[in-house]
Amino acid sequence: MREATVTQGQGPLTTEAGAPVADNQNSESAGVGGPVLVQDQSLLEKLAHFNRERIPERVVHARGAGAYGTFTVTADVSRWTRARFLSEVGKRTETFLRFSTVAGNLGAPDAVRDPRGFALKFYTEDGNYDLVGNNTPVFFVRDAIKFPDFIHTQKRDPYTGSQEPDNAWDFWGLSSESTHQVTWLFGDRGIPASYRHMNGYGSHTYQWNNAAGEIFWVKYHFKTDQGIRTLTAEEAARLAGADPDSHQRDLREAIERGEYPSWTVQAQIMPAADAENYRFNPFDLTKVWPHEDYPPIEIGKLELNRNPENIFAEVEQSIFSPAHFVPGIGPSPDKMLQGRLFAYGDAHRYRVGINADHLPVNRPHAAEARTYSRDGLLYDGRHGGTKNYEPNSFGGPAQTGQPLWQPTGVSGATGHHEAPAHAEDDDFVQAGNLYRLMPEDAKERLIANLADSIAGVSRDDIAQRAIDNFRKADEDFGKRLDEAVRARR
Ligand code: HEM
Repeated sequence: MREATVTQGQGPLTTEAGAPVADNQNSESAGVGGPVLVQDQSLLEKLAHFNRERIPERVVHARGAGAYGTFTVTADVSRWTRARFLSEVGKRTETFLRFSTVAGNLGAPDAVRDPRGFALKFYTEDGNYDLVGNNTPVFFVRDAIKFPDFIHTQKRDPYTGSQEPDNAWDFWGLSSESTHQVTWLFGDRGIPASYRHMNGYGSHTYQWNNAAGEIFWVKYHFKTDQGIRTLTAEEAARLAGADPDSHQRDLREAIERGEYPSWTVQAQIMPAADAENYRFNPFDLTKVWPHEDYPPIEIGKLELNRNPENIFAEVEQSIFSPAHFVPGIGPSPDKMLQGRLFAYGDAHRYRVGINADHLPVNRPHAAEARTYSRDGLLYDGRHGGTKNYEPNSFGGPAQTGQPLWQPTGVSGATGHHEAPAHAEDDDFVQAGNLYRLMPEDAKERLIANLADSIAGVSRDDIAQRAIDNFRKADEDFGKRLDEAVRARR
C-alpha cells in the first residue's frame, strides 16, 4: 500500500464546530472514577457521528470497487450517433467505473460465483452518460416486474438468513428465460479471477441517433486487454476465505503500480429497419445478437488510471443511472431497461439523498448542471440567490427543444403484454448454442458446478424442473446434468 496521505491540515484536533479538543483519550467524568458528564460535548458528538457513519447499502451490487479513467475514441462513429463525446477519433473523456458483485452484502467476499457489475460514468461535455452494465451480455429475466422476485432468490432467505439453493433453483426452474444466463453463470466465466480480467457489456440494446435523425440500435462490449482469467469453484472458495477483498485489492494495487487496466470498446450496430424482422427480438435481454449477424465494431479504448482517494465518498456514494443519457443516445423499448430507468434514481434518492448529484464523483465534470431544483437535505447553496423558477425574465437557463433521442413508433392497445417473440425466439436456443460451443473440459466443469448447486435443493420436483430447462436447451446437457445431480443426491 502506498504511504498514507495527510489531508487534515495544520493545527490541533477540533470538534466539528472547530473548537480545540483538550483530551481525546479520556472522557470527562464527575471526579476520578465517577460517571461521565453530558457536558463532554466532544465525546457525545464523536459517538453520535460514529452511529451515523453508514448509509443504506445498495439493495443489489452492494459490494464493489471503483477507479477513474479515460475513454478514447478510436473510430469514426458519427454516421450512427451525434453524441459529442464520440464525435472524433482521438477524443478523450474522463470516466469513473465501479465494479461489483450482485448478491453479496457490503462486506461479502469478492471471489464468488455471481455476475459482476460494470457501471461506467462518462463525464461528457453534454453531462454525464452512465452505462450501467454487467460482465455478462445477457440477464436472467426480460421484464423489470420480475426483478425484485429474482433478487429475493439470490439474497438471504427470510427464515434461514442464508442464500438458499431451493430459492434460486425454484425461481430459475419456473422462469425458463433464465436458462441462457444461468448456463453462462455456472460456466468458466462465472467467477472472474479479478475485475481486470473480465469483459464488460452494456447488455441492453440502446438507441443511437445521428445528425440526420436516423436511429440505430446498439449493444456495447468492453473486451479486456488483460485477457480473460477465471477461477474454478475450488480456487474461488479458497480465495474468498483467505482474501475476501481479492478483486478490490487487485484493482487498486495494479493502478498503484502503474499497470493501468484497459478494455477495447466495441459496438454491434443494427439499423432501425432491421429490428422488426430480425430472427430474435433485438430488445430481449436474455438474448445476444450473434456476431455473424452484427459483427462488433471497435470504437474506443477505456483505461483506468486513478484510484479514488476516499472509498466512502467516491465509491459508496457514487451513483449510476441507466436514465443518464446525452444527446445522440437513448433508451430502447427493452422492458427491463424501461424499469431500470425508474429504479436507479429512486434508489439514489433513498440511499444517498436528494442532492446525491452534487457530490464530486457524481456531478458533471465537463459540463455544468443548470436546474431550478433547490434545497433539500444537505443542499450546499450552490445556486446562491438566482431565480428558482422557469420561465423567467432574468436570463436563466431554458429548454433546448431538442430531444436527446428520436421518437419510436408504437402500435396496439395498452396491456400487460409479453415481449414479442420473433421467428427464432425461445428460451432455450441460445443456452443450447452456448453449451455446444464449449470444449469438452468446459462442459464438464459447467455440469459439475450446476450439479453441486442443484444437489443442494431439498425438493425433487424443484431440482427436476431446473434440470429440464437445460435438457430443453440441449439433450446431452440435460442428460449429463441429470446423472451428475443423481450421483450427488
Ligand atoms: C429491471 C431490472 C433491474 C432493476 C430494477 C435494478 C435495480 C438496481 C438498483 C436499485 C441498484 C442499486 C442502485 C444504487 O443504490 O445506487 C442496482 C445496481 C446495479 N445494477 Fe441493477 N437493476 C436491474 C437490472 C440490472 C441489469 C440488467 C444490469 C446489467 C446489465 C444491472 C446492473 C447494475 C449495476 C452494475 C449496479 C451497481 C451500480 C453501481 O456500481 O453503483 N442491473 N440495480
